[in-house]
Amino acid sequence: MNRLDALFDAARAAQACAYAPYSKFSVGAALRALSGAIYSGCNVENAAYPSGTCAESAAIAAMIIAGESRITDILVIGGEGTPITPCGACRQRIYEFSAPETTIHCADSQGVKASYRITDLLPRAFGPRDLETRP
Ligand code: THU
Repeated sequence: MNRLDALFDAARAAQACAYAPYSKFSVGAALRALSGAIYSGCNVENAAYPSGTCAESAAIAAMIIAGESRITDILVIGGEGTPITPCGACRQRIYEFSAPETTIHCADSQGVKASYRITDLLPRAFGPRDLETRP
């Protein structure tokens, strides 16, 4: 089994659970944490549109609940066609729990079509270390 197969299957299963009645754009995300465990999430929209949440946020929350805090890989699948990359806010959310080698895999229904390092999707990011030297 390809090491991405389990992530892909988890993201597909999460995508099927998406609550996206307004955009009709279902997103699933699955991440592998340092322990090897996989956590997944889907987007959950809201009639008050800005209150909706992204799939990546839900997967990160599941990881935090389990007591983990380092993402090694995260796979995202959205819509029907061209693979999506995480939105800007989710790049920042992923960065918080990343190492430079953390990889983001972008899939369509057939499988992973592109993979990027977090440092390529969010170069020169603001992160936890920027707050370490506050007086
Ligand atoms: N969405 C995500 O879940 N993740 C992303 O990275 C991009 C956008 C969701 C938010 C909204 O429910 C729908 O996709 C359309 O923007």
